[in-house]
Amino acid sequence: DTYDETLRPQLHHTPSENFMNDPNGLVYANDVYHLYHQWNDKDNIPGYQNWGHATSEDLVHWQLHPPAITPDSDDGPFIISGSAVVDEHNTSDLFNESTTPSNRGVVTDTKHCSLNRWRFRDPKAFWYEQDSKWVMLVALASQHQMIIYESRNLIDWFETSRFGNAGQPGYEYECPDLFPLEVEDTDEVRWVLITYVNPGAIRGGGSGTSYFIGDFDGKTFTPIDTSIREMDFGYDDYAGVTFNNVPDGRRLWIGWASNWLYTGVVPTEPWRSSLTLVHELSLTRANITDQHQSLTLRHKPVDLSSLISDTVKETNSPMKPDSIDFPTDGAVDMSIDVAFSSDTESSELSKSASRITIESEDGVNSIEFGVQFADHIVYINRANSGWSSPTFGSLGATSSNIPNNNKVKLRAVIDRSQIELFVQDRIHFASMVFFFQEGRVPARLRYENDEGVMIDHLKLDALKSIW
Ligand code: FRU
Repeated sequence: DTYDETLRPQLHHTPSENFMNDPNGLVYANDVYHLYHQWNDKDNIPGYQNWGHATSEDLVHWQLHPPAITPDSDDGPFIISGSAVVDEHNTSDLFNESTTPSNRGVVTDTKHCSLNRWRFRDPKAFWYEQDSKWVMLVALASQHQMIIYESRNLIDWFETSRFGNAGQPGYEYECPDLFPLEVEDTDEVRWVLITYVNPGAIRGGGSGTSYFIGDFDGKTFTPIDTSIREMDFGYDDYAGVTFNNVPDGRRLWIGWASNWLYTGVVPTEPWRSSLTLVHELSLTRANITDQHQSLTLRHKPVDLSSLISDTVKETNSPMKPDSIDFPTDGAVDMSIDVAFSSDTESSELSKSASRITIESEDGVNSIEFGVQFADHIVYINRANSGWSSPTFGSLGATSSNIPNNNKVKLRAVIDRSQIELFVQDRIHFASMVFFFQEGRVPARLRYENDEGVMIDHLKLDALKSIW
């Protein structure tokens, strides 16, 4: 009966109680994925940050552990965001011969640090194979910069360059990450630099993400262009980072599914905040608009097929507007292709939309998403979802322009109070939270469309809880 409150996500990681924020120190060691996270284990509001800890073997089920690092005293210094590495070659000389290489874990933090004037924080360190050295990015938050350092021993660090004042302006830059990715179906390797801004994000004025694609020579990051790329078109994806030390080179990322605008007041008890699913990231060259081809991140959520308890509906032929009830004890995963028929007159097409509503059993609360063909956008609207606050707002989230090649493919994972939406083979992604009123949970999909628009493929799987 724990982990079964009506607003409690059933697939997404949440702390047993009290306030959680950023994922930290994501690292694979000894066949286990470690997830640490910012946690105030004493209260359901931000403060007293320590490192909560959970582990997983399959990136789907999580086992909870006591906090891994706690502040020395109630007055701090608090254990804020940082990273963890495995010092396999004992470069730090912190380990003796008898420690097996995979047990040589090091955590980087900025507890003792002289640059705090500019809010020096959120170190992300990783092994740079080409030069057998460590590289670390640290946010100089209020200077809108990331400092890049190098080290041979994880102890003495030397600044090699800075990157910043790029992308979304925002008030502070936080939680940088930097990693290489192969461009799909090529030998080309590019580096991705992620930075988060808060507050002042373009979208909604709160917390938001920018990422840059470029080259990294071990010392300096050089972006290939000046585009502002957003990782997410929703409001609830922040401070995410990627795992270190994943054996097969896969790049696995987890975000914090919340926003500093309202994270401290959302109506969940006895915990607040959840994480996104684990996503495998890749780079692909795609038409991100009708006119524009570009490199972009692609998100592949972790395989959820082991959780399917029932395929509630599967159809590969045009579907009439319909309503489908689904079980409410877990989550649902749906793939939906929305198409418009080519014989539709362009005047009709210009106002065509398809609307998918996920509603409570009594229909009182709902969250809506869909496609507006005329504007070339996908949207999520939580205006009718129940709980609200001045900053949570009634604003809907809309994607940037998507190419309109007669079909839009959607995949949505809906988990009690959280939706992750993947668009067009997952090159657009949105994470949003929503809070139905007391006792109400998502229970039904309702689908409507305008003339000429139809769903021509739908698969709706009920998923069982991981808890
Ligand atoms: C980002 C952040 C980090 C900081 C942490 C504190 O959400 O503000 O910059 O290290 O949260 O909990």
